[in-house]
Amino acid sequence: MPTLRLLCLSLFLLSAAEQPIPYSHKKHLALGLECTGCHTMPGKGEAATFPAESKCMTCHVSVKKESAAIQKLAEFARKKEAVPWVRVYKLPAYVWFSHKIHGSAAKCGRCHGDVAAKDVMIKEKPIDMNSCMTCHDEHKASNECNLCHNPA
Ligand code: HEC
Ligand code: HEC
Ligand code: HEC
Ligand code: HEC
Ligand code: HEC
Repeated sequence: MPTLRLLCLSLFLLSAAEQPIPYSHKKHLALGLECTGCHTMPGKGEAATFPAESKCMTCHVSVKKESAAIQKLAEFARKKEAVPWVRVYKLPAYVWFSHKIHGSAAKCGRCHGDVAAKDVMIKEKPIDMNSCMTCHDEHKASNECNLCHNPA
């Protein structure tokens, strides 16, 4: 069924964001890197953050430096500019969420799926209100409106 395969492929391409640099979690996690080595969670841990370009360059000063993608990366690093990654998981501003609290309650994969298997990051799991509340129920955590919408 070539038409069905074509349809599936185009649906996949539509759901996968085109990133400014073709970074692959699959390739990099195979090197044994840790999630939190790149995604540090400073302060209250509201943001999981993206790695500084200088961190990528610790390897890429030498690794694959002839590649066009790496030359683009090196240019961002040289100008000390952040790569404008297209966001995949993003809550509206009126929701309070902290990675630090959740890190102890769940592994990354519970909310982000099998990241180590992905060349291109896609939104594999929902982060809507219902999915938050279901897990809070399971863990007997609060589901008071103010917990997520107007934290003290
Ligand atoms: C309980 C669910 C949950 C768990 C567990 C979780 N995340 Fe997230 N993650 C989210 C949500 C929700 C967002 C969107 C946050 C926002 O937009 O404010 C997000 C966003 C992100 C982002 C984008 C930057 C940001 O903070 O908005 C990165 C990177 C990330 N997560 C990495 C991780 C890593 C690494 C782990 C494991 C250490 C992890 N996440 C564990 C739910 C989770
Ligand atoms: C620990 C060393 C290391 C770090 C840190 C690292 N990389 Fe890599 N990267 C590699 C290696 C090794 C490869 C080649 C992997 C392969 O081809 O299987 C690679 C491949 C790539 C490629 C594919 C290049 C091509 O043309 O084939 C891109 C793009 C890339 N990395 C981007 C990044 C970005 C962006 C960061 C920072 C977020 C980063 N890398 C951090 C080691 C690293
Ligand atoms: C070498 C650095 C590096 C490592 C290690 C790494 N990531 Fe990432 N991560 C990135 C970069 C760069 C992006 C932005 C490009 C993209 O989305 O693929 C990203 C994006 C993400 C996003 C999408 C955030 C958003 O909202 O756009 C999630 C979720 C995430 N990573 C989770 C993880 C998890 C879970 C692990 C460990 C299993 C991990 N990452 C390991 C560099 C890294
Ligand atoms: C994997 C299960 C799980 C998911 C999914 C989850 N939570 Fe939680 N959350 C918990 C648990 C367990 C606690 C209680 C942790 C504790 O008290 O140590 C908690 C606590 C919280 C708190 C209180 C933190 C604080 O500062 O005291 C907030 C806010 C919160 N979650 C928001 C969210 C939002 C928003 C989502 C959806 C985007 C979400 N959670 C998804 C398990 C989850
Ligand atoms: C565990 C976290 C959590 C709790 C508790 C929570 N919400 Fe939400 N809420 C969210 C998230 C995440 C979103 C944004 C994603 C979405 O629209 O589902 C949201 C969105 C909303 C929206 C906007 C929906 C829309 O379609 O625009 C309203 C209204 C809302 N919540 C009301 C409430 C009320 C009322 C309560 C208490 C009964 C409550 N929330 C409790 C996490 C939570």
